[in-house]
Amino acid sequence: MTFPPDFLWGTATSSYQVEGNNRNSDWYSWEAPGHIRGDLGCGDGCNWWANAEADLDIAAEMGTNAHRLSLEWSRIEPEPSVFDPAAIARYRAILQGCHDRGLEPMVTLHHFSNPLWLVDKGDFNNDIVVDYFRRYTAKVVAELGDLIPKWITINEPITYGVMRYLRRDFPNPGHHGFGALFEAIHNMLRCHAAAYHTIKEANPASLVGTANNMQVFEARPGGNALDRWWAGVVRRFYNDSWPEALHTGRYRGLAGSKRIDQLAGTYDFVGINYYTRFYLRFPPPPCFIESDWGPDAVVSDGGYGEVYPHGLYEMIEHVTKRYDAPIYITENGLPDAADRLRPGFLLDHLRQVWHAISFCYPVMGYYHWSLVDNFEWDRGWTQRFGLVEVDPLTQERAWRPSAYLYQEICRSYSLSNDMAARYAPEMLDVIWPGNNEMSVL
Ligand code: FCB
Repeated sequence: MTFPPDFLWGTATSSYQVEGNNRNSDWYSWEAPGHIRGDLGCGDGCNWWANAEADLDIAAEMGTNAHRLSLEWSRIEPEPSVFDPAAIARYRAILQGCHDRGLEPMVTLHHFSNPLWLVDKGDFNNDIVVDYFRRYTAKVVAELGDLIPKWITINEPITYGVMRYLRRDFPNPGHHGFGALFEAIHNMLRCHAAAYHTIKEANPASLVGTANNMQVFEARPGGNALDRWWAGVVRRFYNDSWPEALHTGRYRGLAGSKRIDQLAGTYDFVGINYYTRFYLRFPPPPCFIESDWGPDAVVSDGGYGEVYPHGLYEMIEHVTKRYDAPIYITENGLPDAADRLRPGFLLDHLRQVWHAISFCYPVMGYYHWSLVDNFEWDRGWTQRFGLVEVDPLTQERAWRPSAYLYQEICRSYSLSNDMAARYAPEMLDVIWPGNNEMSVL
């Protein structure tokens, strides 16, 4: 199964999760036992602030040609309207480091982390956030824009909102519930529109999009009409409401639909972050969405979620039919410390991408989450998403078998039954039914 010669093979990380010691971020004061699993905070992360280059070397050696990373607003602007030239210089070096290694950077401006001073002002529950976000974006464009061909404004805005305002698993903004959530989404949309136009006016050739967390939501097997109705509500809200708003320029909140100035058409691509399938029941649990799966489901570490590769194809098909734009798989992965499932996961999810491309669905690249194990938000270091294992205490690295498999895939732009035979024999019959004899070659 071969991929187009211009396909982007990437991995993804975010600043707070890998840089370490982001003291001006709201996560820094939040992360403590009780708020995160385990007793280990982000600490030095993966030591990227000092030496991201070591892991960029690994990404290049793995055969990838792209990397998705984010900028830490709280480093670039540690106090309102005070920009830090040293932090900007460090990001220039990291971005140049990507280019030097043949890794095209895709840069996220906001990935789940706020400057503390912004939180004090009410962040996304205060209209002033829009001007601050516009100015932060303008600064980044002026200082780093020449190194950034692809941008993501805000990572997973709906998930971010749900985690903060409904589940309360992320740093506490002091407001909760649906009213505060919709107010924040509304302001995030305005921030997105402001950033989109700021970037495009300066660099019309760069591509700007968002990374949307899109999962398969179905009524639990044997569920009733209410369960099915609820699954539809969640699907529309969680998967579709954000990209739909960028498409139409309107957002449907609690008090009906609202038009947002200069929002319509503000995307050059759609980013899909796909992880799993959820079975839903009505009424929902107090935490809004609970992981649930069928009896035969293959489930990743710590009950994170079901491995459901076909869902990636379903999301690609859904997005292709709704939006006329290129698609990037901006995240896809699973927590799997022992690398028990990851090789098969990789092969089967990439097979879904290949399948979609063979139907001319416009998937232009794939960024695996993640290059290295990193600080997994409220789950601390208890969930390991890395192709490469990291010991956060010693900073030692070890390639998991999946990293070697991904290397073979990236270098050959293909998936083969021979790879499956060596890395995930259980997938042979799934992916190449009746074609196993060739694997002995
Ligand atoms: C996504 C986040 C990313 C990481 C993965 C596992 O929702 O964007 O930072 O936590 O999940």
